[in-house]
Amino acid sequence: MESQDLRTVMAQWATGVVVVTTRTADGGRHGMTASSFTSVALDPPLVSVCVTSSGATCRMIRHSGVFAVNMLGSDHREVGRRFAGPALGDRFALGDWATASTGAAVLADAVAWLDCVVAACYPAGDHTIVLGLVRDAAMPRPAAPLIYHDRTYHEGIAR
Ligand SMILES: Cc1cc2nc3c(=O)[nH]c(=O)nc-3n(C[C@H](O)[C@H](O)[C@H](O)COP(=O)(O)O)c2cc1C
Repeated sequence: MESQDLRTVMAQWATGVVVVTTRTADGGRHGMTASSFTSVALDPPLVSVCVTSSGATCRMIRHSGVFAVNMLGSDHREVGRRFAGPALGDRFALGDWATASTGAAVLADAVAWLDCVVAACYPAGDHTIVLGLVRDAAMPRPAAPLIYHDRTYHEGIAR
């Protein structure tokens, strides 16, 4: 199967949208938009995200050994766009960001966030499956989640 055809089919899979953040070597922060986030195990508490192996985020997560996952609300479309591309300048310029105990950045008004240490990294084709052990989590805001379907952002239903 061609990768472009797989992309087209997978665009029919509706997901939430997260921003995965990590610490940089010089004490700064970095992050990217992702939809490949999932819950993996409850005991111990494990989650995963698949990141492009050649990307900056993958390199920085491997180096720092920590990451946070920020679940976006439907009013965070611009945050989602900004963290998905290089063209808009400082990705953290939008949003109210705080620092979790691992040093990764968390969005103060995220629907929820999880702060993780890297448990394992598994190469998977051109991506890396990053497995995280959840150290801390919070649900700052009961807002409608941001949904990604058919290459378009949509509004989910608030809890
Ligand atoms: C809705 C959406 C979901 C995305 N999901 C992922 C993902 O799960 N994994 C990934 O590697 N890139 C994903 N991307 C692409 C990255 O956000 C994009 O390539 C980003 O610029 C990578 O940043 P980096 O080069 O600093 O690592 C997604 C983009 C969008 C818009």
